[in-house]
Amino acid sequence: WTATRDKNCKLPMPKGSMGFPVIGETCHWLVQGAGFHASRRQKYGNVFKTHLLGRPVIRVTGAENVRKVLMGEHSLVSVDWPQSTSTLLGPNSLANSIGDIHRKKRKIFAKVFSHEALESYLPKIQQVIQETLRVWSSNANPINVYSESQHLSFQMAIRVLLGFRISDEEMHFLFNTFQEFVDNVFSLPIDLPFSGYRKGIRARDTLQKAIEKAIREKPLCTQGKDYSDALDVLLESAKENGTELSMQELKECTIELIFAAFATTASASTSLVMQLLRHPAVLEKMREELRNCGLLHDGCLSQGELRLDSIYSLKYLDCVIKEVLRLFAPVSGGYRTAMQTFELDGVQVPKGWGVMYSIRDTHDTSAVFKDVAAFDPDRFSAERSEDREGRFNYLPFGGGVRSCLGKQLAVLFLKLLAIELAGGSRFELATRTFPRPISVPVAHPTDGLRVKFFGLD
Ligand code: HEM
Repeated sequence: WTATRDKNCKLPMPKGSMGFPVIGETCHWLVQGAGFHASRRQKYGNVFKTHLLGRPVIRVTGAENVRKVLMGEHSLVSVDWPQSTSTLLGPNSLANSIGDIHRKKRKIFAKVFSHEALESYLPKIQQVIQETLRVWSSNANPINVYSESQHLSFQMAIRVLLGFRISDEEMHFLFNTFQEFVDNVFSLPIDLPFSGYRKGIRARDTLQKAIEKAIREKPLCTQGKDYSDALDVLLESAKENGTELSMQELKECTIELIFAAFATTASASTSLVMQLLRHPAVLEKMREELRNCGLLHDGCLSQGELRLDSIYSLKYLDCVIKEVLRLFAPVSGGYRTAMQTFELDGVQVPKGWGVMYSIRDTHDTSAVFKDVAAFDPDRFSAERSEDREGRFNYLPFGGGVRSCLGKQLAVLFLKLLAIELAGGSRFELATRTFPRPISVPVAHPTDGLRVKFFGLD
């Protein structure tokens, strides 16, 4: 990549530093984490240039700038994952699709996250969460919430989304292989023995084999809308859209779904637990809402079947989840490439440069949020609704044609977890102070957050 400006464009280049030859500012970025972008934004403004992972990049913060990037997908910018990510996710993945193929795939996927489909996953998600909390509570020692949340979100993906009925041993094996895959999804694309890239490819091949076996052994649901899991819905939806998914496509879709859900949901679950520990008044207000809606009696959650409508009627819970995702947005931003030279904030974004739009910095610097660093769920209440102004001020799930497809499912999962935590658990921080949050690769606390769970007596 050459870091040259577009000479046909009269606009100045963004300010910023390109660092050292070849490596640019990659080392600073890796060492400083989120502080890298914040310090440069303060110095150079909301649109600045840098050089990361071997290519020139324009970093973009602020609702209006981010809006232009996200709404310009397929015209101003195009999605552009690092080569290792593209190869490991495969040619049939959504991540690697653009234009009409991307639109068609999203249409097929949309049904997987419809209201009807979510209603059918709900009891199974609830069961996985309840079982997990029972295990956490029966452990005499504090648990590491972040690493346990990764197991929880993996279980959710494997058992609920994909409907795999596999032994604990197979689950354990799949989890470890998946970790190896995720650890190497962002690696230098050098295919040598022992390179991260080679390890990633090996993990992907092992996963694909295990997934193919599980798919072949899985009883597929064929009774119209009575879905049992997302894989059934996906196959049904593909048929309705006049296409059949090949085994290779199914395997790639499956890995992509687990990949998209895994770290993000674990990050948000951990942030939720941390904020409930930090803010007992918020936890108490959630309990009060559950009592008022008849879901909590004498300190116990009611045993009846929960429906989506009752969950959606819990307005305060909705505010709490939104606020967790604002203050601790799991994903820091997204990667694109400029398809043509365009203007942002009075400077040029030259064709061919990388464009990194920012979610976390945009939340942190948005003027629409009063006391922006405070955890204040009521800012999303009907009376205040601070996110009302300019929808790109609040974008934990991205925006535009590539916004998160699993958003409703992720929020449902977090709400169910919050209901179980508020109604069915007692938990205490097991360390003297709260751990420092870090944001790479997703937001999470430094020591994983050690918490003792007791359950209810
Ligand atoms: C895309 C966030 C959970 C599936 C995205 C994007 C963000 C995001 C920011 C857009 C990235 C970009 O602009 O390049 C989150 C967060 C989650 C979450 C914060 C949890 C709290 C999930 C879950 C699933 C999922 C549970 C599915 C099971 C996807 C897919 C895409 C995506 C398939 C790609 C959409 C496309 O390229 O058209 N997510 N996500 N996500 N997400 Fe999520």
